Amino acid sequence: MVGAPKITLQWPGKALSRAPTGGRLTPAVCPDAPVTLIEGDNLVALEALQQDAAGFTLAYLDPPFFTGRSHHRVIRQRDPESGQISRSLGRGFDDHWESLEHYLSALAARISAVHALLTPQGCLVLHVDPKTSHYVKVLCDELFGPECFASEIVWRYRRWPSKQRNFQRVHDVLLRYVKDPKAEPRFQQLYEPLAPSTRATWGEGQQRAVVGADGRRVRSSTLEQPSRGVPLGDVWEIGIVAPVAKERTGYPTQKPEALLTRLIEACTLPGDRVLDPYAGSGTTLAVAARMGRPVVGIDENREALELCAARLRRQGLGVRRSRAVPRSLRQARPTSPARLTG
Ligand SMILES: C[S@@+](CC[C@H](N)C(=O)[O-])C[C@H]1O[C@@H](n2cnc3c(N)ncnc32)[C@H](O)[C@@H]1O
Repeated sequence: MVGAPKITLQWPGKALSRAPTGGRLTPAVCPDAPVTLIEGDNLVALEALQQDAAGFTLAYLDPPFFTGRSHHRVIRQRDPESGQISRSLGRGFDDHWESLEHYLSALAARISAVHALLTPQGCLVLHVDPKTSHYVKVLCDELFGPECFASEIVWRYRRWPSKQRNFQRVHDVLLRYVKDPKAEPRFQQLYEPLAPSTRATWGEGQQRAVVGADGRRVRSSTLEQPSRGVPLGDVWEIGIVAPVAKERTGYPTQKPEALLTRLIEACTLPGDRVLDPYAGSGTTLAVAARMGRPVVGIDENREALELCAARLRRQGLGVRRSRAVPRSLRQARPTSPARLTG
């Protein structure tokens, strides 16, 4: 954190400092491995990762959204004889909380642990929805420093229309914070297509602003070279994962690969390490590995990690597995490290 924030969020029981979990990873994580999956509570894993000298350039966090629901995985199976598809429910994740205070306390501990793992050029992207984004933004200002706030990306999507006495919610919020605002951030400029009205008026050529003696733009001229488009803004229109999409895994709240592709492309270079402490079905892992970024994913749901591993195998990639072992288990069984599968 850079400067002491003057405005903070308060709630009963708020305590940003606490004793470390004291867990460890077994086996230890190799920083150069293309893909590592860690099973266990992400707070234990994140704190144990702090012993690893290499930091992460991008951490993408997609935590439960405080929905007050249990989210199930949908498993589709085709009967080899009849060809009929049957659906059953598998383990997803639970999103019930005692209170918003408990939710924010849990999130604050994880955001702090991720902060410690970022390189000076690195950033955190926290994916939430408008029910909590205002609280989480003030919290991140406190944990990172307000000057570390970089962007609030609105992911706008289309969903099945439903009539209600309100505007239908059709966006999520991605908050981006940089680790060190004085360091040169990793940032590759991306472009989006020119607006149809711009193309109609100016054509497809690059535009150059003609500036007067007083420094104000007097007119624009169009050059011969084709335009790359306009610098990408902070409202992203990307479709949700369609029911028939090839990338669909059946895991609840799976995020589209196009969203992660954009983030990873903008915020990292090949070889930079990427972290996803709420890995779920492994969208970040699949995309980062394909783009040549070593990636570490953490999830407490073993079924989710099996799904990740299968998804990566289909991409021709092997994964290393590790387990986050909390201190209490280490004390109970100091000489018997957890058995690994896969
Ligand atoms: C919203 S889902 C992530 C979905 C993922 N982005 C995708 O595209 O599939 C959240 C995930 O976080 C995991 N999770 C929640 N709390 C956790 C914790 N304390 N430690 C580890 N994993 C956790 C859940 O098991 C769930 O898989």
